[in-house]
Amino acid sequence: MSTLIKGARPYGEEAVDLLLDGGVIAAVGTDLPADGAQVVDGSGLVALPGLVDLHTHLREPGREDAETVETGSRAAALGGFTAVHAMANTDPVADTAGVVEQVWRLGQQAGLVDVVPVGAVTVGLRGERLAELGAMADSAARVRVFSDDGHCVADPALMRRALEYVKALDGVVAQHAEEPRLTVGAQMNEGDRSARLGLTGWPAAAEEAVIARDVLLAGHVGARLHVCHVSTAGSVEILRWAKSRGVQVTAEVTPHHLLLTDECAETYDPVFKVNPPLRTDADVQALRAGLADGTIDAVATDHAPHAVEDKESEWAAARPGMLGLEQALAIVVQTMVEPGLLDWRGVADRMSVRPAAIGRLDGHGRPLAVGEPANLLLLDPTHRATVDPAALASRSRNSPYAGRELPGRVVATFLRGVPTVLDGKATK
Ligand code: DOR
Ligand code: ZN
Repeated sequence: MSTLIKGARPYGEEAVDLLLDGGVIAAVGTDLPADGAQVVDGSGLVALPGLVDLHTHLREPGREDAETVETGSRAAALGGFTAVHAMANTDPVADTAGVVEQVWRLGQQAGLVDVVPVGAVTVGLRGERLAELGAMADSAARVRVFSDDGHCVADPALMRRALEYVKALDGVVAQHAEEPRLTVGAQMNEGDRSARLGLTGWPAAAEEAVIARDVLLAGHVGARLHVCHVSTAGSVEILRWAKSRGVQVTAEVTPHHLLLTDECAETYDPVFKVNPPLRTDADVQALRAGLADGTIDAVATDHAPHAVEDKESEWAAARPGMLGLEQALAIVVQTMVEPGLLDWRGVADRMSVRPAAIGRLDGHGRPLAVGEPANLLLLDPTHRATVDPAALASRSRNSPYAGRELPGRVVATFLRGVPTVLDGKATK
């Protein structure tokens, strides 16, 4: 099947026609003939490379009531993604070749995005001994990103050994930076607000201390480190310093940390409970600036679906986490593009090119050019709509954006030339 996209604007630049054929972008030009191809009207739409998420919780195996590989893949495609990294904190944990291959196969069966499993760093995420990193790397799932996300690899000697192993595998440790001794019972950002609300605080230093330690370790070992969901201004400063010293460190920020602050906790609505917690307005500004100047490499969703009974309870009992896949691009448009902090090439870089490079993905994060894999999305940047959680493709409903009017609608997504989303609807 071939598709002719008429008059879309790659990276928001001049309108052109794009012919998708044989899984690649076969031609780019003006007035290309349809020649039997399915025609998609791209007028007014921005074309971007398919988005790549470094941090998605798909919950399968184990919590299929909250999300499955298939429902999460559909949410991803609707958000403009063509590849997602599936986090390892499933049940059983993705700490063996068998489990990562299972997740990879489920992704292939769903066929909506490339599901790239993340392997656990330690057995059972327990932080005691290393998992079979080499076996996961050599498996059909070709794991390159290793993470105990949800938990920090807190033991510095174990972290050092993990870095040594991933160096040999051309992999990367994606660290959930949280010194556990500093966050016992923590419920929200530590500051004036937590004191007033009477909720135990999660201090910025618990994140920053681990990042500082880990960039030193990564520099010492000469290995790649990736920092998950950076949330504080101090973390951005440490990353800037480490990069200036040549440490191979990359970092991600979530859409929710780019938009929301700890003011949301005033509602006591657990939909705003997340780990790391929403921070202050000054942190949000520093995260936006860090993403704009490239100190933060990528936007990653930390899409964390939770079943109703795990989320609709009192604040302290609720699980941390929020949905992100379907609104990620809209939040980036609102927080980065509309204020002039990133142009469309910048969005492509932070949401596709760099995350694909960090995950060592072939075929994603490629330029919109002839001969390249036809992984791309079409966005209507002027469309504005109010988020209705009931209308989401995710199996869960814990969206922090409910009732918010957001800009930008993903009109179409193509995976190797095959539409996974058309007219804003999933094709399967
Ligand atoms: O809020 C979070 N939710 N942070 C994490 O690190 C894990 C995630 C989850 O798995 O729900
Ligand atoms: Zn995490």
